[in-house]
Amino acid sequence: MALSEERVLEALRTVMDPELGKDLVSLGMVGEIRLEGGRVDLLIQLTTPACPLKGQIEAEIRRALAPLGLEEVRVRFGGGVRPPEQYPLPGVKHVVAVASGKGGVGKSTVAANLALALAREGAAVGLLDADLYGPSQAKMFGLEGERLKVDPQRRILPLEAYGLKVLSIANIVPPGQAMIWRGPILHGTLKQFLEEVNWGELDYLVVDLPPGTGDVQLSLTQLTRVSGGVIVTTPQEVALIDAERAADMFKKVQVPILGVVENMSHFLCPHCGQPTPIFGQGGGRRLAERLKTRFLGEIPLTLAVRESGDQGRPILVTAPESPEAEAFQKAARELAGALSVQSFIALPMA
Ligand SMILES: Nc1ncnc2c1ncn2[C@@H]1O[C@H](COP(=O)(O)OP(=O)(O)O)[C@@H](O)[C@H]1O
Ligand SMILES: [Mg+2]
Repeated sequence: MALSEERVLEALRTVMDPELGKDLVSLGMVGEIRLEGGRVDLLIQLTTPACPLKGQIEAEIRRALAPLGLEEVRVRFGGGVRPPEQYPLPGVKHVVAVASGKGGVGKSTVAANLALALAREGAAVGLLDADLYGPSQAKMFGLEGERLKVDPQRRILPLEAYGLKVLSIANIVPPGQAMIWRGPILHGTLKQFLEEVNWGELDYLVVDLPPGTGDVQLSLTQLTRVSGGVIVTTPQEVALIDAERAADMFKKVQVPILGVVENMSHFLCPHCGQPTPIFGQGGGRRLAERLKTRFLGEIPLTLAVRESGDQGRPILVTAPESPEAEAFQKAARELAGALSVQSFIALPMA
């Protein structure tokens, strides 16, 4: 049988998206097939540029096309984050809330680096520091003391750093000033943060929540539709108990949990590279199992992560090829994958 685009398409019908459990053709992911001589160029439209399965999908495609005896198969990936039926905020496709049971587990560090990692994969990303009691993203991004500007419609313009749009309460309230947030003021401030900000076009707005299960969490879910929550924990049992409570809060307000990130999984010695499980092992994975959600990955405890955060240049910026940065990048891809799958299930099939 002669080579034809139809035969290529037929072969692609046997390639399944490992997570969505349907073939690439019925999922509408085959964007282009160009056959020239013995060579084929394929454009595969993903559901997120940060897709964790690119490698696996490409390998499956090559396997499926092998019997056709093509001289060369070229696979390009395209496609942005698919727009939801309803945008949670103007221009924003997904709001992702990062939560933890306890403070100090590295929630802000994880939120910042996940946001940067998603942007590195080609997504348009914003980061909202909604930890009204202990904002840290302005410091983490070297934006302390920066004044916010407004657009002609008097909407707040977020600051920009390393390709991200960043907005922190610290840029509104003078540094060090103690704030006592009464319920209505808190709600109003968060409302302003969400509704009176010109975020532009974002695939993901990552929200750094305060620790625990308080008013900010509730207000956020009342004010906008949160696509999913990420739970950050250390492997310690005490942290896990609190993390479970944070997960419970998401369940109560019907926000799907996208997964668990275990931070400070092991200390990675800068001298010998030896890992030491200071806070125990496997806790995050066990938590993910208990919550029936994904384990997004483990982030080592290292001097470089702490220093880079304190210096206003997160590790994804200072050392994007380091093992720590790789760990964040992997977790971000898993997160994007989880969100894609979840929004795909929510959407009726085309
Ligand atoms: N993986 C890590 N390795 C080293 N230091 C870390 C790591 N994660 C967080 N830290 C440090 O721990 C402290 C608390 O982290 P932070 O992100 O502010 O926690 P939270 O937002 O949960 O209170 C910060 O000084 C931060 O730099
Ligand atoms: Mg924090």
